[in-house]
Amino acid sequence: MPLALDSPEAGRLITAARAARRHAYAPYSRVHVGAALLASKGSMYTGANIENASYGLSNCAERTAIFKAVSEGHRRLRALAIVTRTAEECWPCGACRQVMLQFNPRLPLLLAPLQRAPRMVSLAALLPHPFWPSGLRVHAPP
Ligand code: THU
Repeated sequence: MPLALDSPEAGRLITAARAARRHAYAPYSRVHVGAALLASKGSMYTGANIENASYGLSNCAERTAIFKAVSEGHRRLRALAIVTRTAEECWPCGACRQVMLQFNPRLPLLLAPLQRAPRMVSLAALLPHPFWPSGLRVHAPP
């Protein structure tokens, strides 16, 4: 993996994700999630979850950060930290895994619950046999 758990970059990402978590808008679940994404040339994008009274419209912290990066021209995603205060580490949801996959199928993820030591996993381990853009190819009609 290109990023070591004890590297200064990993520490910087976790610190930024903790700060981003403070901006979570989660009046319904009360689960506040912060994310920080390392993109190309050392640029960093943060995100928090944003809920809605129409629950299905809520957006996860990870996708907030990814959409910010991509919408500003940064598609080369290098690592993503996720911070929560939950008892267990926050494994990214299936929708976020699929969105991450689009930009880096091996994205290193730093799962960093506030009360526990962080751990690192690769997206590749979390989403085997994914739906991939090549799955959009269709056979020509006979
Ligand atoms: N949530 C995230 O922001 N990231 C995840 O990886 C899982 C869940 C949010 C969505 C919702 O606002 C709250 O956490 C509870 O599901």
